[in-house]
Amino acid sequence: MIYGSAGKDHVPGKPVRVTINGRQYRAEEGETVLSVAIREGIPIPHLCHEESLDPYGACRLCFVEAGKHGKREMVTACTLRVAEGLEVTTDTPTVTKHRAILLELYLAEAPKSEVIKEMAARYGVMKTRFLKKMETDDPLGGKCVLCGLCVRACTEIMGAGAIGFINRGPYTEVNTPFLEPSADCYGCGACVKVCPTHAIVMEDSGSERVMKSWSGTRVPLAQCDCCGRYYAPKELAARTLSALDPQLERELAGLCPSCRGKQIAEREILARQGGAGNHA
Ligand code: SF4
Ligand code: FES
Repeated sequence: MIYGSAGKDHVPGKPVRVTINGRQYRAEEGETVLSVAIREGIPIPHLCHEESLDPYGACRLCFVEAGKHGKREMVTACTLRVAEGLEVTTDTPTVTKHRAILLELYLAEAPKSEVIKEMAARYGVMKTRFLKKMETDDPLGGKCVLCGLCVRACTEIMGAGAIGFINRGPYTEVNTPFLEPSADCYGCGACVKVCPTHAIVMEDSGSERVMKSWSGTRVPLAQCDCCGRYYAPKELAARTLSALDPQLERELAGLCPSCRGKQIAEREILARQGGAGNHA
């Protein structure tokens, strides 16, 4: 793909020209304005965008003004598809004011998040007038903005469905059902990777991976037969598809990626030496 994607099912479309902040950019039909902006280094704040997931429009931070022929409206850049002649402005006074209010809300929702504090400071927002979320015993450390990316990654990318939204209204949070350790969690860490505020705590402890934020869910780790290191969640290590031929795959089963790499390199060197010897 030439121009990046707009969600997992994005199919490259025909080339179009889009104007952002008075400058013209090439894009392809079907891309979102946010994807183009990210590629071109145009700052648009966002929390709930993840290239491998379909656009969702949950956080509303990526609002821009966009339209054609002088008509403009406020739209979320992560859900707006580019079209020939589309004109976008990313930082009008209305957009800036809107983002500042949203960031004030997020400061109350996630009072411990340095990511949110930094974003808010860029809009001159240093404190919030809204009621701060209770912080006691929050497994997400007062950093969750309820963007839903972890839930979607767990369900839509990994197919695990180990976590979800629980409770309602101001008590809404993300966790495992009934706050019980999850039997569906692979310990893959996809949730940790996509979380924009680094709220999720995952730790490897001996032979286990502990998903501290997800009700202390524990997942066994696979141990390397060669170096003895615990290197990946057992179930994932067993499932990982290999590009190696089945014979080699059988011989290297049970090794961590580093020991596999070393073994493959050693075999390659030996094979070349053998080959060179044959020519001598
Ligand atoms: S834990 Fe992170 S990814 Fe999950 S909803 Fe909260 S902020 Fe979003
Ligand atoms: S990134 Fe667009 S609404 Fe969150």
